[in-house]
Amino acid sequence: MVNFMMEEEIKFEIDKLFYNSNMRFSRSFGSLSIGAINEDISILDGFAASGIRGLRYSKENKNVKKIVFLDIWKIASAIIEKNIKNNKIKNAEIYNVDFNEFVIKNEFDFIELDPFGSPIHYLNNAFYSFRKKRRGYISITATDVAVLCGENMRACLKKYGAKNLRNEFTHEIGTRILLKKIGDFASQFDFGIEPFYSISDRHYIKILLKISRSAEKASEIPHTLGYVSYCFHCGYREIGKFPNRICMNCKKDTDYAGLLWLGELHNKKFLEKMKKLNAKRNYADKTELEKMLNLLIEETNMPQFYYNVHDICKRKKYPNVPKIGELITELKKNLFRATRTHFCEKSIKTDAKINEIESKL
Ligand SMILES: C[S@@+](CC[C@H](N)C(=O)[O-])C[C@H]1O[C@@H](n2cnc3c(N)ncnc32)[C@H](O)[C@@H]1O
Ligand SMILES: [Zn+2]
Repeated sequence: MVNFMMEEEIKFEIDKLFYNSNMRFSRSFGSLSIGAINEDISILDGFAASGIRGLRYSKENKNVKKIVFLDIWKIASAIIEKNIKNNKIKNAEIYNVDFNEFVIKNEFDFIELDPFGSPIHYLNNAFYSFRKKRRGYISITATDVAVLCGENMRACLKKYGAKNLRNEFTHEIGTRILLKKIGDFASQFDFGIEPFYSISDRHYIKILLKISRSAEKASEIPHTLGYVSYCFHCGYREIGKFPNRICMNCKKDTDYAGLLWLGELHNKKFLEKMKKLNAKRNYADKTELEKMLNLLIEETNMPQFYYNVHDICKRKKYPNVPKIGELITELKKNLFRATRTHFCEKSIKTDAKINEIESKL
């Protein structure tokens, strides 16, 4: 007997293929972004498994003119074929080869990279496959968060060419290390990158980029990179072209992370389009999606790196941790910019310095 699964309007089989129902949010988020691109696109669901991501992208959006499903696992093709038929997906193709082999011979407007672990082995060929195009979109999921945001400095240096740092804003560091690495590949192929969103959620980091062919934009990428220096004694942080090993607040030694992407993480206009689409759709995660989109919209154009209010209070031995909303209001009253951040619900983004935040606690 076949066991069918349901996700939103899609009824599908998985057999022995990988399926994580916790990633429904990520697939809904991805599907909203396909709709928000608002131009006819061909899509490669490059690590399709049952095909649930591509099935949803195609079924839920009118602008998908062609969808190609690819998975290296032999049994995937037959299951995906049934899922395509049962859901009446049009203009679909299925291939059963290695991603890297496939993309160097085929081109798409949008490539979805959803591998196990790190996407790093696939980035070179993904960019190569856009070589004849002026622009395109790459959606990248990384689940090797333990490397990007962990304490294992050697693993991160080896894989991403950047030093990580386990501190109060480690998730933003991990996200910016991944973006830095993506930028390395993009610039080699003469593409500029524009992140539409960069989210760190659950056990993954997900980034959607618009890439545009331009030698000028590609050469801007290295100038968007830098380091963050961080003082574990007082919470002071500073960005720059080089690490600053002395804290400018308490004069003790700092640690650092980098190289990192220090440019924008999101595109506000694009996120607003996604928000409008979400309001029209009835996804099971509608409320959570709206909450995430609002947080991303708020934190667009805010300074890099957040402050964990609980950590500050612990360090200063303040017994009463203020409500995040009240602290933001207080900072704004004092003419600072301040918002919540999707990276951590106990944290804020602000242009106030650590001593200025402490004076409001
Ligand atoms: C994380 S799962 C994909 C999940 C799927 N996108 C979803 O939303 O349910 C990764 C899939 O990539 C496939 N895979 C692993 N290495 C691959 C490669 N080199 N080329 C193509 N597919 C690959 C695996 O067989 C597995 O089905
Ligand atoms: Zn310090």
